[in-house]
Amino acid sequence: MAHIIGSISTSHVPAIGGAIARGKQQDPYWKPFFDGFDKAREWLAREEPDVVVILHNDHGLNFFLDKMPTFAVGAAESYQNSDEGWGIPALPAAKGCVDLSWHIVESLVADEFDITTCQEALIDHAVSLPLALLWPDGLQQGRWPVEIVPVCINTVLAPFPSASRCYRLGQALRKAVTSWDSDKRVLIIGSGGLSHQLDGARAGHINKKFDLAFMESMVDDPKWITQYSNDELVDLTGTQGIELLMWVAARGALDDMPVRQFHSNYHLPISNTATGLLVLEPA
Ligand code: DHB
Ligand code: FE
Repeated sequence: MAHIIGSISTSHVPAIGGAIARGKQQDPYWKPFFDGFDKAREWLAREEPDVVVILHNDHGLNFFLDKMPTFAVGAAESYQNSDEGWGIPALPAAKGCVDLSWHIVESLVADEFDITTCQEALIDHAVSLPLALLWPDGLQQGRWPVEIVPVCINTVLAPFPSASRCYRLGQALRKAVTSWDSDKRVLIIGSGGLSHQLDGARAGHINKKFDLAFMESMVDDPKWITQYSNDELVDLTGTQGIELLMWVAARGALDDMPVRQFHSNYHLPISNTATGLLVLEPA
């Protein structure tokens, strides 16, 4: 059966795409952020995942205010990158792992997660930027060294699923991946957060204390976050801070195994956002 090697959770600020396009990685503003990924890349070089299940939120690219699935799973052959006007260059398309997608779809529905299945989908910065940060050589070569299964959680249009529901989605994803008849090595990525609010009276809101407590809880006490309602999470972390639900689902996918933190980095601000990176592996 397939094997989950661990998880990487990261923020996905579009301005990162602009910094990559302009080669700004050594610029004093960007360096502490980009340097945080060196250890994650070292870990990936050692662990050599074949497939990535990436928890992400769509920002209005595939789903808009008229139709908004709470959870959606990609089952496409290929995912073109397109973005919603941040002015960053399109990154290489990602190849889909169709076999795992359909296995996940079957398994989630059997587990009473009534997802939307997408046989065609685009990917925005929430998927393409983690790929570019983790596999910069892929960016040069125009192809990524992994296949992907995108799993989308709505954090754009209320109501959002609760943290405990997202954790259970992660647990169900674990069950799906580890029952997939394959010798492939699977990495879970959670893409979103941490605290940020892009507009309104609280634009620029960042809660470092809460972000650090959340990151710490992810290692040994991952259900800590479920004490908060989504309204409380928005109060604490900002309107878009609710994207931390991707981290919660990614952590749920490591649920029944002891984990240890391989690496973490927290840096602020990038744009209006507090950026976090967390690499968890089996203990
Ligand atoms: C920013 C952060 C996001 O998560 C996003 O999706 C768009 C913009 C930002 O900080 O600029
Ligand atoms: Fe976002």
